Amino acid sequence: MKRAIVLLLLLLLLLLVPVSTFAWTREPLRARNGVVASVDPIASRIGVEVMKKGGNAVDAAVAVGFVLAVTWPSAGNLGGGGFMLVRTADGKAEAIDYRERAPLAATRTMYLDEKGEVVKGLSTDSYKAAGVPGTVAGLALAHQKYGKLKWADLVEPARTLAADGFEVSHALATSLRRESTIKKLAKWPESRRIFQRNGRFYELGEKFVQPELAATLARIKTDPREFYEGETARIFASEMKKNSGLITAEDLKTYEPTVRTPIKGTYRGYEIVSMPPPSSGGIALIEMLNMLEPIDLEALGWNSAFYVHNVIEVMRRAFSDRAHHLGDTDFVKVPVEGLLSKQYAAKRRAGINPYRAAVSTGVKPGAPEPAETTHFSIIDSEGNVVSNTYTINDSYGAGATVAGLGFLINDEMDDFTAQPGVPNGYGLVQGEANSIQPRKRPLSSMTPTIVLQDGKVVFALGSPGGPTIINTVLLTILNVIDFGMNIQQAIDAPRFHHQWLPDSVYWEEHGFSPDTRAALERMGHIFRDKPGFSELTTIGDAHVAGIIGDGVRMGASDARRGGAAAGY
Ligand code: GLY
Repeated sequence: MKRAIVLLLLLLLLLLVPVSTFAWTREPLRARNGVVASVDPIASRIGVEVMKKGGNAVDAAVAVGFVLAVTWPSAGNLGGGGFMLVRTADGKAEAIDYRERAPLAATRTMYLDEKGEVVKGLSTDSYKAAGVPGTVAGLALAHQKYGKLKWADLVEPARTLAADGFEVSHALATSLRRESTIKKLAKWPESRRIFQRNGRFYELGEKFVQPELAATLARIKTDPREFYEGETARIFASEMKKNSGLITAEDLKTYEPTVRTPIKGTYRGYEIVSMPPPSSGGIALIEMLNMLEPIDLEALGWNSAFYVHNVIEVMRRAFSDRAHHLGDTDFVKVPVEGLLSKQYAAKRRAGINPYRAAVSTGVKPGAPEPAETTHFSIIDSEGNVVSNTYTINDSYGAGATVAGLGFLINDEMDDFTAQPGVPNGYGLVQGEANSIQPRKRPLSSMTPTIVLQDGKVVFALGSPGGPTIINTVLLTILNVIDFGMNIQQAIDAPRFHHQWLPDSVYWEEHGFSPDTRAALERMGHIFRDKPGFSELTTIGDAHVAGIIGDGVRMGASDARRGGAAAGY
């Protein structure tokens, strides 16, 4: 009798508790005032502490940006660049472009040998791979325009972590012990000494102290221009020269970030605000959403073969356009309006066979009328939002640490077209619009994005992952808008990716049932032989901050690289 009552009560409980339609039911973090979602729990916590002290989302972003340069060295950086999308509570949105620029001595053929062939590794594993870093200037500009707290107080947490050390996380220990990281860093004595203790690899929970980086941060703390004109700049330029790099004191002195107007699109009544060129992300994202809008994805069903087929086909087309049309708009003409128009999307969509995969080499760019990286999203108590993605390109950049300064140099020059038609490190085939010129910025896939409804922020998001960034952002948006997932479910869900060339579907383990995959293969889709992208078995690493109707803030961090959201 007792058992029957217990069973009845359990049954009643099941009826009363709303059961999600999704197996992955992690809830986002909820907080009343502000949230930070990033790849690193320490960085997220420090971002929240800054807001608790009266700082806004931009103050928190500056502190998080510097902390990640200490605690997440594969992508957090002083030696790279990125994009920060800021939307203030009054509804104004601005994009700060602090992407690296090609050095003054760069030339369009600098990575080719005398036979005109690409020299392997020159644009990825050498001092010549580095573009002029923009991170310090970008964070300083954001602070100057929006910050409330003192600059020095925002750099200090990072300096303390570098000087006193922090406990190595499982994610960092794993990343430092990855075979490719070991090989890449071991080539450079300074990197081998700092990140590998000359062969005594860091273990989970060990303390990682970086005195040279702490000293660099101490100088930046007094004045951000110091990085470009002071002792740091002097050491940087001299190390560049010693190692046959191109960046000079003049390059550093003249580097400036650029404020840009974000690009905008709409999707099923939502407004999408994203990054303009030199990012390809915003344009490709909106182009894909425009192509998908008239298709009833919900009726097709999440991750059904027909859903995946349609999404792959729009990815294929947007990436073909990316390769052909996109580059730094300060140097080349890009048909932005055309690529973003719903009419253009309709024409592009008309070429999709509903039952058959296209062959990428047969998908030419349309004619519109006219690596590691890391992302964090922040919302503060006033409703200001920051969506920031920054990078040194590949994991640990070019692998070289600047002696005496303690930070890694980027290999962002590999994002340029070294030779039209020859794939770069991400397998991306690119075009003339993205050729190398002094001071030009290489085309990026970084896609910091904010989604609004009725003028109010719903969520801000972004991801690392080279070209997979754009598709990670796309799938996350579709998961929320078309399939009603919460932001945590939306990023936990398995992903897929297609980038036109190579003509392959990239996939995550358990993402497709065997019969779904077989159905897609029957349609002509070609699956990559192993899961993931590049050497990772996963795709992307999204970090999302959102607000729900009653004003509660939500944070969702991707578990793929051990991220954690924090709030208060
Ligand atoms: N370095 C990767 C990107 O900007 O797309």
